[in-house]
This record gives sequence, C-alpha cells and structure tokens, in this order.
Amino acid sequence: MKVVITRAIPDSLKQLLDQSCTTYMWNEDIEPMPRALLLEQVKDADAIFTNVSDRIDLEVFQAAAKLKVVGTMAVGFDNIDIAEATRRGIPVGHTPDVLSEAVADLTFALMLATARKVVEGMNYILEGSWRGWGPMLLTGQNIYNATLGIIGMGGIGQGVARRACGFGMRILYHNRRRREELEQQLGAEYSPLDELLQASDFVVMLAPATPETRKMIGKRELSLMKSNAILVNTSRGSNVDEAALFTALKERTIWGAGLDVFEKEPIRPDHPLLTLENVVVLPHIGSATLETRFNMAKITAQNILQGLKGEPLLYCINQ
Ligand code: DGY
Repeated sequence: MKVVITRAIPDSLKQLLDQSCTTYMWNEDIEPMPRALLLEQVKDADAIFTNVSDRIDLEVFQAAAKLKVVGTMAVGFDNIDIAEATRRGIPVGHTPDVLSEAVADLTFALMLATARKVVEGMNYILEGSWRGWGPMLLTGQNIYNATLGIIGMGGIGQGVARRACGFGMRILYHNRRRREELEQQLGAEYSPLDELLQASDFVVMLAPATPETRKMIGKRELSLMKSNAILVNTSRGSNVDEAALFTALKERTIWGAGLDVFEKEPIRPDHPLLTLENVVVLPHIGSATLETRFNMAKITAQNILQGLKGEPLLYCINQ
C-alpha cells in the first residue's frame, strides 16, 4: 500500500504509516507539493494524506486509479471534490473536534486584538511614535458586556460562546438548524441572520465553506452591521465578500475586521485590505498550536490506516 503525504508530518506519525505502508512524503512545511508531482505520485497511490492547500479534484481522482482513502489534516474540506470521491466509493476523512478549542482561542485573540488595537499599538512603538500617555491614544472597543453574534454554531462556535461567557457577553447565534440543546447550556439566543448582524458588536464567521455560505457576508449584510462592529473570520475566506468588506472598512461603516482566512491564500502583501489600519490579519493559523496540529496529523494517519484496512474512518465526511 502506498500513501502520498503532501506535506512534512511529525516523524512518529510517518513511522506509524511506514510500519504498514510505503510512503512518499513531500518534505516541506510551507511549500505546497507541486501539482505535477502530486499527479505523478498518486498514480500508484492507495491513500493521500492531504491538507487545506491541495486541490483534490477530478484530475487527481482520475490520476489515482488505485485510490482507497483520502485523509485531510483539517476540519474544512472545500478543497476536495467530495461528490467525486463518493461516486468512486472513496471515503474522505477529516479532523473535527480536535481543533475546536485552538480555533476558538484564535478567534478570541482576533476579537481582542482588533477591538483593542494590539497590532497598531505595537507598530506605534516600533516606528518610534510613542511620545507619551494620551487620554484618547489608541482607544478601542469594549469586549466585556458586548454583544457577540456567532454565525455557525458547531464545535468552534460553541468554544467561542463558552469563552464569551467569561467576558459577560450577550451571545446570539445563527446556524443552519437551531441548536436548542445548547441555548441554555451556553446562554446563547438563536437569531435570524439579519437581526444578529444588526445587534452584534462582534460578528464571528465560523460557518463551513459551502455553495450556500459563499459570500454570505456581502455588501447588504455589512450595511446591516453597527458602526462600532468588528467582523472576525476564522472559517474560510470565501464566506465573506472581500471587496465589499474593504469598502465597509475604508468608509468605516463598520469599525474593524480580524481575519485569519482570505478569498485567495496566501493573500498578497499589496492587497488593498492590508493598507487599512482597522484590519488585523493572520496567515490561516486558526488551529496552529503544537498539540493541536500533532493531533490533527495523528487522526489523519489513523483515518488513512482505517481506510486502507477497509474499516470505518474515525471521522468520515462521506460515509
Ligand atoms: C481547517 O481545519 O479547516 C483549518 O482551516 C486548517 O487549520
């Protein structure tokens, strides 16, 4: 059995796969595996160990005639043609739950950093502008007691809501289906999207990327938000219309944005959004803690080993 691993993974997990398989590993952390090499290597592969930056599409499935299982080291799977995998009877594994707390932490970090101008404050010192204390210097927005609107109440949304309880926040949420069982537990109120946007001081986008959520936050939705509101996106860039967001931020019809994900990644350093001082950006590191990334890689390896044995995956998207 051959496993193609499209990025460097911890030695112990590579060894785990090596015990029962032949592995080809693209031994890089940042550089994606070149497409031509991926297409070549999958020709005799039984499994692909992938991640958010590879496109596992019809071309890959056609090239990989022996493929038995795909494991992605992520919760999101918008980069994989799941319908095609299902049509071919290929299970696709992913890694939900294990990353929820880390992504919830980073979501909160972006809320705090944007509201309290953390990056602007550091740059202010580094560029030598700090001459003294000022009553209104770098004044931001309150987080404590503010209203939080969570779009997408899965594991990460619930983690954000639990943190928000400690900040005394009023919690609104919008989800495909109402989660009444969570409402009492988290003190969260279900809200139609427009009402959530109108009432929230922080709007946190955590919905998965699907055709239905594409540009879910666009010009109309941004125009409903409060002028002091902050939008945080730690889900997928495609869920927000970036051009509309740029205009709302530039014209200050909303107060700020904290973004870990972008329509096109990596975002170019000369992208218009990055010229704005009311934006805090990060390079898609929502789940990037040592422990979480190790656990994500471990579950991916386990999903693949299960799939190669023809047994149910730990977390399967399409079975
Ligand atoms: C995911 O798991 O989908 C993240 O975006 C990658 O960390």
